[in-house]
Amino acid sequence: MGTKFHWHNTISVIGSGYVGVTTAAIAANTGYKVYLIDINQERIDVLKTGKSFFYEEGIDALIKNALDSKQLIPTTSYDGITKSSIVFSCVGTPDNSDGSPNLDYVFSAAKAASNKMKKDAVYVQKSTVPVGTGKIVASMLPGQVAYISNPEFLREGTAVFDTLNSDRIVIGGADKEAQNKVKSLYETIEHGSANITKLTGITAQPHANGSYFLTNLESAELIKVTANAFLALKISFANSIAKLADKTGADITEVMDAVGADARINRSFLNAGRGYGGGCFPKDVSGLISSAAEHGVDLSIMTAANEVNESMPGYIVHKAKRSLTSFEKKKIAVLGLAFKAGTSDTRRSPGIKIANLLANAGAYVVAYDPHANKEAVHELKTTISIVETIVDATKNVDAVFIATEWPEFKQQDFHELSRIMKGNLVVDAVNILNPSDILKAGLQYIGIGRG
Ligand SMILES: NC(=O)c1ccc[n+]([C@@H]2O[C@H](COP(=O)([O-])OP(=O)(O)OC[C@H]3O[C@@H](n4cnc5c(N)ncnc54)[C@H](O)[C@@H]3O)[C@@H](O)[C@H]2O)c1
Repeated sequence: MGTKFHWHNTISVIGSGYVGVTTAAIAANTGYKVYLIDINQERIDVLKTGKSFFYEEGIDALIKNALDSKQLIPTTSYDGITKSSIVFSCVGTPDNSDGSPNLDYVFSAAKAASNKMKKDAVYVQKSTVPVGTGKIVASMLPGQVAYISNPEFLREGTAVFDTLNSDRIVIGGADKEAQNKVKSLYETIEHGSANITKLTGITAQPHANGSYFLTNLESAELIKVTANAFLALKISFANSIAKLADKTGADITEVMDAVGADARINRSFLNAGRGYGGGCFPKDVSGLISSAAEHGVDLSIMTAANEVNESMPGYIVHKAKRSLTSFEKKKIAVLGLAFKAGTSDTRRSPGIKIANLLANAGAYVVAYDPHANKEAVHELKTTISIVETIVDATKNVDAVFIATEWPEFKQQDFHELSRIMKGNLVVDAVNILNPSDILKAGLQYIGIGRG
């Protein structure tokens, strides 16, 4: 006997990106009937074939199972909203050229939904928006619809794991009943997590869903951007110290291992490297700066973090140049085009920046990524070749840049690499290699802040 659906366990998710697909696929496998709505026909068509447009561990198995059991309905129609008790907005919030967030999608989604929402339904904003946005969106919705800010904290690459094991769930708003409705959806997901584990092998720790933070609307909005800004700050801080380590002979990994052992500081996000990228950190940091400026608050601490971050791809390329004298006519492999390991997302990817910088400097660049080659094509200079294996990328090259922390780059046989390369320079732009392994293979090692 199939699950009987009525409006209490029917929800809609607007936006089938990384956040929307993960939210919808998990809810649809834990007892909800989910309308997954997007204006992008291509993304909906791919979903209907039982997979997602992006690579993410476990996600395709969840989509396929939910489609087969008819609990997930990918669609370009907003009609499912008329039957939904909760409507999640997960649309994109890219930045404008001045760094301010572009909220066009947030407003157009709310406008389209507002005509269809049931009385007593809850509209939940998962998209990252500047503090103060919720009030405007709430005013666009019918009076009896409650508005909740429930910012998303999942990380691409571990999206399913993060949803099952969240550190905290923030539910901000003025309507206690609506807050509790959203909370009970998360509790239902938590109770149904065994099905997700069965389908994906990704486990939930007992009582893994950390604390619930029921806050006011503005706090919830500010929590999300503040968390991302602080993580970006840690990365840029580590990179600033790494530059000093480079000048003095200190090793940034040794430094941060000891500094991060202090529980007040914590070791995470203190790795030096080519800086952060992706669809969140860069735009969330510039969005926070511009939203603070609008309120007359100077966030120069974040402007500095952004500047340090922007400098990192050029910094590592410059370090390599000192070793090669010139890039002119040199053949260089760039391994890693995704903005981080575990995803095919190439938005603002430092690996792509590095490849383009090298090509601009006259190098012949061969690039490879295990999952992001297709996504990277349009962002790489046309002179850059993209190949399908590490060996094809590294054959006869003068230097190899490692730009994403994919395990296969770390686990490769460096003696074999040394044999097939023409030159001997390995540039570790993500500080994932053990320098002594590289030296033992007869190669030269350059990292960031490692002397
Ligand atoms: N990607 C992440 O890791 C992550 C993590 C936390 C928070 N966020 C935030 O979540 C939001 C979504 O991010 P994403 O990476 O999933 O975005 P995305 O760009 O991958 O997807 C957004 C989707 O929304 C669709 N869309 C836009 N307007 C629409 C409308 N009016 N109706 C229906 N669909 C519409 C687009 O076609 C697109 O498919 C952003 O605000 C982002 O900052 C993202």
